[in-house]
Amino acid sequence: MRAMQISLDHPLLQRIVDDLAEKGWSQQNGFLPQALTLELAAECRKRAAEGELAPAAVGRGPAQEIREGIRGDHIQWLEEGDAPVCETYMRLMDSLRLAMNRHLFLGLEDFESHFAMYPPGAFYLKHLDRFRDDDRRTVSAVVYLNDAWLPEHGGQLRMYLKDGVEYDVQPTGGCLVVFLSGEVPHEVLPATRERLSLTGWFRRRGNEPF
Ligand code: OGA
Ligand code: MN
Repeated sequence: MRAMQISLDHPLLQRIVDDLAEKGWSQQNGFLPQALTLELAAECRKRAAEGELAPAAVGRGPAQEIREGIRGDHIQWLEEGDAPVCETYMRLMDSLRLAMNRHLFLGLEDFESHFAMYPPGAFYLKHLDRFRDDDRRTVSAVVYLNDAWLPEHGGQLRMYLKDGVEYDVQPTGGCLVVFLSGEVPHEVLPATRERLSLTGWFRRRGNEPF
C-alpha cells in the first residue's frame, strides 16, 4: 500500500505548542486521522501476533530489568525501514518536532518510539519519563490506537499536574497526549481489555562522553 499522505501543517500543531508553553502538556482527540489509526492498530496487532512485542524493561543500560510489578506492557521499538504506515506516523511526529523547535526553541534533535500493548490487567506505576543518568528525553508523546474506549474499561493515563490536580486521559483511538518528560509524573491504570498505543520521546542532544 502506498504511504498515506499527511499534511505537514497539521491544524492542531499550533494548539499543541501553545498548550505546552502554557501548561506543559496537551491532549488532542482526533489528532490521527481514523484511517491511519486503524492501520497502525493493525500493524501493532500483527506484530503482537507474530511474537515481536517483548516485555518492556525498566531503567536504562546494564541496569535494565523486566519488572511486571512496575510495568506490564509489551513493546517493540520502531526502526528504519518499518512498514509505510510507521513512516507516515514518523513524518507526522517530525512535523510536531519542527513546530516545537520553531515556537518553543526546544532544540529537539530526534524522536524514538515504540508500539506498546498492555494485556488486560497490565499497568505502569507512577513514574517520570526522564532517566536519572540521561536527560535527553524532553517531550513525551503518546497516541492511542483503541476503538470505542469507555471509561469503565479502565486503562486511563493518569497525569499528576501542579497543585495536586490529577487528570485522566481515556486511551481512545486517534488521541494524542504530549507532556514535558521531566515534569509530569504519570501512570497507566489497569484495563479490562487490551490497550494499544505508540509511545515516543523527543530528545535533545546529550552530553554523552564518547
Ligand atoms: C510510558 C507511558 C503512557 C501511556 O510508556 O512511559 O507512560 O498512556 N505510557 O501509554
Ligand atoms: Mn511514561
